[in-house]
Amino acid sequence: MKFVRVSSVFESPFHLPCMLQTARILPSRLFLTPCAPSTRRWISGLSSGLSNHVEISGVRYPTDAITNVTPAILGKLPLRLHTQPGHPLSTLRSLIEAHYPDYAHLSSLSPLVTPYKNFDELSFPKDHPGRAVTDSYYVNKDMMLRTHTSAHEVEVFRAGETKWLLTADVYRRDEIDGSHYPVFHQMEGARLFSADAAGMRECEEDNARLRQQLARSDIVIEDVPHISPTNPVQPSHDPRHAELVAKNLKLSLNTLMLKLFGGVAGSSSENPLRVRWIEAYFPFTSPSFEVEVFFQGKWLEILGTGVVRQATLDTAGVANKMGWAFGLGLERIAMILYSIPDIRLFWSTDPRFLSQFEEGKITTFRPYSKYPSCFKDVSFWSPKDQPLHENDFCDLVRDVAGDIVEDVEKIDNFVHPKTGRTSMCFRINYRSMDRSLSNEEVNAIQAQVVSRLRDQLGVEIR
Ligand code: DAH
Repeated sequence: MKFVRVSSVFESPFHLPCMLQTARILPSRLFLTPCAPSTRRWISGLSSGLSNHVEISGVRYPTDAITNVTPAILGKLPLRLHTQPGHPLSTLRSLIEAHYPDYAHLSSLSPLVTPYKNFDELSFPKDHPGRAVTDSYYVNKDMMLRTHTSAHEVEVFRAGETKWLLTADVYRRDEIDGSHYPVFHQMEGARLFSADAAGMRECEEDNARLRQQLARSDIVIEDVPHISPTNPVQPSHDPRHAELVAKNLKLSLNTLMLKLFGGVAGSSSENPLRVRWIEAYFPFTSPSFEVEVFFQGKWLEILGTGVVRQATLDTAGVANKMGWAFGLGLERIAMILYSIPDIRLFWSTDPRFLSQFEEGKITTFRPYSKYPSCFKDVSFWSPKDQPLHENDFCDLVRDVAGDIVEDVEKIDNFVHPKTGRTSMCFRINYRSMDRSLSNEEVNAIQAQVVSRLRDQLGVEIR
């Protein structure tokens, strides 16, 4: 959570570092350290009446010191918005799948994965911030909710797929506002070639075909070198092969951007679509890139991609291949294409939302009346031993209030000079997407938030 937040979704749809799990190293993060005992009580108590397990899809999982999934989060698992016919996320999935007709299309893999699969198999360092209990949801130390669709790369490659797309719900503990939701949807795509002369010929032919396709359109591409000292070729790769594969990934994704945004951002000669490539870092690719699209006066980061690390392919038993992969955030793209202003709307079951959409068609969302919002502040002293983490606060609020919490903002934070204790003040903004909330109702919810803060997170209300 940031201290002062930009409110427009188009200015900051997802934090780039958070969304793409780049290697930002925050020394203050706790890595797999147990939650405070008070937090633990709250979590297991909520899930199953102070029991020592959580039940997910009929299976019982033992809880332990790092369990931090909440009932509000577990309740999202069965919804699978990306497969609900007519839902904007499903239409977007189908559109991208139609762009890659000869790829395998996967969309039903379980969100429960081992931390090994989510991180280690993809060469994430042991101290990567994404592993922290403050950032990811753990069922217990051996099972978590995937934080990205890349978690399935090894198993799909191992199954022998060489061209595939995989769409899924992913889970990250995060702040609350109009563009952040702890569950969102990603699509992973990958293509492998044989790492030999025949494979590289196939790659070159595909590059020629894609280049022709792009030449017929108006698209302005700002490129970076495929390989550079700061974005190196992998030691086991022939640099000429890595160049060809990186070129293939760029051409393939440029055609996808043209398909998705060409109509919206303009693909005419007066108003061409502008796409920009940026060097990036991901633990499981090298070279790595991000793609941004210029939309309504701003550059929007759309996806992460790169040449797949050979270690990943070796683990998957396909050491004789090389290729690329990408991961894109569906909500972000859908918010742009459909003009959907608030990420919570994707979860709405209100007919005024759902009836606006038809499978396969992109239409502009017509906002229905916005009901008034109502904010409440809460100030408290954090427990002495462990200052409260904002994500713990947000999960508690979301668990009490569900989707009527629009926004949570930390409006004050100070450390008492004498006692060393931390005082915080949060402003919770309540607004329903489909009805007016009464003041009494909001007061009752706020009272529950306050009492659970006190009883379960051990804070001292001021
Ligand atoms: N998994 C990354 C994320 O969620 C995105 C990503 C980056 C996927 C690079 C890829 C890739 O397949 O090659 O932040």
